[in-house]
Amino acid sequence: MPERTHHCGDLRIADVDQTVRLAGWVNSYRDHGGVIFIDLRDRTGITQAVFHPDSGNPQIHELADRLRNEDVVSIEGRCVAREQGMANPKLPTGEIEVQATNLVVLNKAQTPPFLPDDAGSVQEDTRLRYRYIDLRRPRMYEILRTRHRATKIMRDYFDEAGFLEVETPFLCKSTPEGARDFLVPSRLQAGSFYALPQSPQLFKQILMAGGVERYVQIARCFRDEDPRADRQAEFTQLDLEMSFVDQDEVITITEGLVRRIWSEVLGVEVPPIARMSYADAVSRFGSDRPDLRFGMELIDIGDLAGQTDFGVFNGALKAGGIVNAIRVPGGGTMTRKETDGLAEWSKGFGAKGLAVTKVGAEGGLETGIAKFLASIAEALIEKLGAEPGDLICFGADTTKVVRRVLGELRVKLAKERGLIREGDWQWVWVVDFPAFDWNEDAKRWDCLHHPFTAPRDEDLDKLESDPAGVLTDAYDLVLNGSELGGGSIRIHQPELQSRVFALLGIDEQAARTKFGFLLDALAYGAPPHGGIALGLDRIIMHLVGTTNIRDVIAFPKTQAGADLMTEAPSAVDEAQLAELNIRLAAMTRKDPIAVP
Ligand code: AMO
Ligand code: AMP
Repeated sequence: MPERTHHCGDLRIADVDQTVRLAGWVNSYRDHGGVIFIDLRDRTGITQAVFHPDSGNPQIHELADRLRNEDVVSIEGRCVAREQGMANPKLPTGEIEVQATNLVVLNKAQTPPFLPDDAGSVQEDTRLRYRYIDLRRPRMYEILRTRHRATKIMRDYFDEAGFLEVETPFLCKSTPEGARDFLVPSRLQAGSFYALPQSPQLFKQILMAGGVERYVQIARCFRDEDPRADRQAEFTQLDLEMSFVDQDEVITITEGLVRRIWSEVLGVEVPPIARMSYADAVSRFGSDRPDLRFGMELIDIGDLAGQTDFGVFNGALKAGGIVNAIRVPGGGTMTRKETDGLAEWSKGFGAKGLAVTKVGAEGGLETGIAKFLASIAEALIEKLGAEPGDLICFGADTTKVVRRVLGELRVKLAKERGLIREGDWQWVWVVDFPAFDWNEDAKRWDCLHHPFTAPRDEDLDKLESDPAGVLTDAYDLVLNGSELGGGSIRIHQPELQSRVFALLGIDEQAARTKFGFLLDALAYGAPPHGGIALGLDRIIMHLVGTTNIRDVIAFPKTQAGADLMTEAPSAVDEAQLAELNIRLAAMTRKDPIAVP
């Protein structure tokens, strides 16, 4: 392999007359009357190489004539200025070309299923199946590079701040982070299973009990849940934990990190990030991850709704629910069919319907449920600040359903109607989280965060009598409506941890079986501590501007949890299963058992 003198993105007019050797992939080839033009590509860019038929080496010319897309070659030649009018201003190397004198074909490529340049128009499944071709795209390389830079900044930042990076196990005992565990059967202890970590939560708390004081890890986490646009079963967290700190210290160190990343990677300055209480977030935006790039806030109109004869409103209020409205600027142009569509869509979020009306040109209410609102029209318009041409949408149901539906609706309509200011970065810390949430279906208390989050001291006496009123020092970092991270100050005393377990319906025996090691660690002298985990993949999504998490992971899984390139998951042979003491109950798999 002839040694390279330059990369394909390097050469400029100042390099003219140098003899150079480049290597890379054939991005394209053209034959202009026997003169062969090759665009040679590596990760730094593209250089044009030219093979003249009369260059005195017919063998090389013949070899060049057989080059095809994605062949891997080494080219030697002289860097020359392109002829007048032939420069390509779109390429940084567009003013020069390489007059080739030698060519070594390092690897002939079969006709590829797609070309890197065409990947934009190729099905994502095909890109994932042939990920190595997809990764040759400059865009993909740029994403990988951004990810590398961001993680490097993280490591430097925490190193400077005195954190230790500590690895925690992959083969764990399951910790209840809220999702389903991936299980790994143990061969040495037949019938027992490890769980892959949903997060390093308990280990980082144990590290605090171990006196590490400042821990950080770029940690892979595994949650067996259905993938979504911003969710993968296997993802990465920037995970940290600190001893002897309060909420403000964790927030300050985290803010310093995102400030440095955004500044160094994007040149964007992140101002001090405002805080919003959970109560405010859910009542004004219907979500604990409010997107503050646009308005359309949820307005409680219960007082007005109660003055109408509209059964939907009165029914909800009588049942102890709420009536909220959002104003959609300019939404009056939506057709009946479109607003009926919204009502159908809202049923997917548990609503019974979606009442709407419009503000007419004269400033009065028209269409939809206008006829029920005559007595309150003026007050309603004033309360919402509605203007002619606006659409008003109503939710009347339990508090939970109304907030969920209208919270989703404002995001959907803002996206569809182009109300989101592009290039805007709206950061917010959501704070003052309640500790518990009543789960009506299961008839039990659930944690809003996780069972290791400390109730506030001043709320401790309410723990058993009024769990809903117990607040915590938990905090979520939200950017443009996406949850970048979450953390909390933890419980560090075993008695309190046991009280919280009891409230969650985990009795003493179950707590010992599941969390004995944690309770012991707390009992043998654990310092007060707290921390946070940021979704690394989500950070990179924001930095590179994609809404598809698969774009920022070199080898992601599909919706069905498959790696299309390696074809994982796959069947294993009977002997392998037998060794693990596993017999399959039902053969529902489509593929036969593979014989290795
Ligand atoms: P949590 O479960 O909120 O907290 O996770 C922290 C952050 O990780 C990211 N995240 C994900 N990213 C991609 N795919 C997923 N499936 C996924 N799930 C979570 C989100 C989220 O904000 N141990 C606690 C943290 C702590 O208390 O310190 C935890 O894991 O950006
Ligand atoms: P109905 O009285 O069921 O015909 O509903 C009248 C209008 O109110 C329709 O536009 C429904 O979509 C809407 N609607 C019904 N139930 C609700 C609800 N719980 N919240 C908001 N709108 C509703």
